[in-house]
Amino acid sequence: MKVLHTSLECYPLAKVGGLGDVVGSLPKYLTDLDCVTEVIIPFFDNEKINDLSCEEVYNGSLDLGKNTFDFSIKKVLSVDFGFQIYLVYQEELLHRPNVYSYEDDTERFLAFQLAVLNWLLDTETKPDVIHCHDHHTGLIPFLISQVNKYNSLIDIPTVLTIHNAQYQGQFSYDKLDYIPQFDLANIGLLDWDHCINPLASGIKCAWRVTTVSPSYMDELQHQANGLEGLLSHEKAKCVGILNGIDHDTWNPETDPMVVKNYGTKNIISGRKANKEWLCQEFNFDLNKPLFAFIGRLVYEKGADLLPAIIAEALQHLDVNILILGSGNSEIESRLLEVKQHFPNTYNTYIGYDEKLSHIIYAGADFLIMPSRVEPCGLNQMYALRYGLIPIVRRTGGLKDTVIDIGNKGFGICLDRANVEDVYYSIRRGVEFYNDQKFYRKTQKEILKIDHSWNNSAKQYIELYKSLKQLK
Ligand code: ADP
Ligand code: GLC
Repeated sequence: MKVLHTSLECYPLAKVGGLGDVVGSLPKYLTDLDCVTEVIIPFFDNEKINDLSCEEVYNGSLDLGKNTFDFSIKKVLSVDFGFQIYLVYQEELLHRPNVYSYEDDTERFLAFQLAVLNWLLDTETKPDVIHCHDHHTGLIPFLISQVNKYNSLIDIPTVLTIHNAQYQGQFSYDKLDYIPQFDLANIGLLDWDHCINPLASGIKCAWRVTTVSPSYMDELQHQANGLEGLLSHEKAKCVGILNGIDHDTWNPETDPMVVKNYGTKNIISGRKANKEWLCQEFNFDLNKPLFAFIGRLVYEKGADLLPAIIAEALQHLDVNILILGSGNSEIESRLLEVKQHFPNTYNTYIGYDEKLSHIIYAGADFLIMPSRVEPCGLNQMYALRYGLIPIVRRTGGLKDTVIDIGNKGFGICLDRANVEDVYYSIRRGVEFYNDQKFYRKTQKEILKIDHSWNNSAKQYIELYKSLKQLK
């Protein structure tokens, strides 16, 4: 069986968040299960991609309304990622430094999807399944099933994975001519709330829809940023499969990014060396418990609450707090402002830094995730893998992966994303930390939890196999 994943992100070539991690790791584990797995992403203008050596395997063009764009497909040769990666090179729209946040993202995502399908039309060995990720590739199931030009691909089953239903990629009907000719009687398959909605269209047209944790699948029936009615209508073809993590990239025993490697035997000294580095770098006292946050600074992550949480915690508790993140500029500047009030106990790095994130997993004492919406969340799984205690709001994948110490578990769970509840959880964290025997024992235990893709990759294989019966 051959599966082609279409995505905007794939670690290590292009990563903004968890989507990159998933598309960079699930294919490895699928390959190990004898599923030939390929990934296609845009050829971005970044160092990692520009440095690759590639073979051009296809040249073509695509139409977006009245404009025609040339593109090529490049097969990556120089690095073995554990699966085959292809890149869509398109000079004007895709060969740019960033993955998202351009004014013409609608055009960019469509160009990517059309290029992939134009290529597939002309390739001899077609995939047995096309696996689309998020709204950026959510129009592929519609294009294959409805557009005359792609009629010869109609028997290829499509799977759509929703990584986050908050983002749907809507655009208005004045861009309808970007979609190649189809029977206008079926225009409803593109529509949601008087817009063309790629995520909604993917949910309607894909053969199967998955999301990244069982609890998020349940939540989506009631809360999906306007798509809840659609998701409960399509419930029969939807399933929640918990994300896994890459146990090779994320391994405290071999991770080249951390200050000192460690396993169960030397976890205390290993984590101490990493904490020492963080304390020196950010001007903290090694003896105080260090609470950290890593992530996109957006409302869904509860990041807007952080400035008030920091103030509350540092006025009343003897702790250090470190924030690594970027995103909403107002949250960024509020986080920077707070620094002047707590120069020795709080610090922040505004930006994206993969290495620093690894050292934080390896050296902080608690990871705070007060997410309002968290479809899966990988941070808490990385935290567990490194022996870092997670403090999470019970939502989506956080609910599926963290058990409270009060229930014989290993983390701290809260129900409401507000300053009081998070502050209370930090207080519980301090008490937990002060019980050093229990705290150390728990750290050792969580190192052994297996959240690798081993289990979930098998569920994807079963899903792919089940599609044959639908043909
Ligand atoms: P999301 O995809 O919603 O951002 P996830 O928890 O699934 O959330 O994945 C986030 C990933 O991005 C993790 O690998 C995390 O370590 C990483 N990450 C997020 N923000 C940063 C940052 N500022 N610097 C480095 N890594 C980050
Ligand atoms: C999204 C979600 C996050 C999930 C990630 C990978 O970005 O916000 O919760 O872990 O996708 O599936």
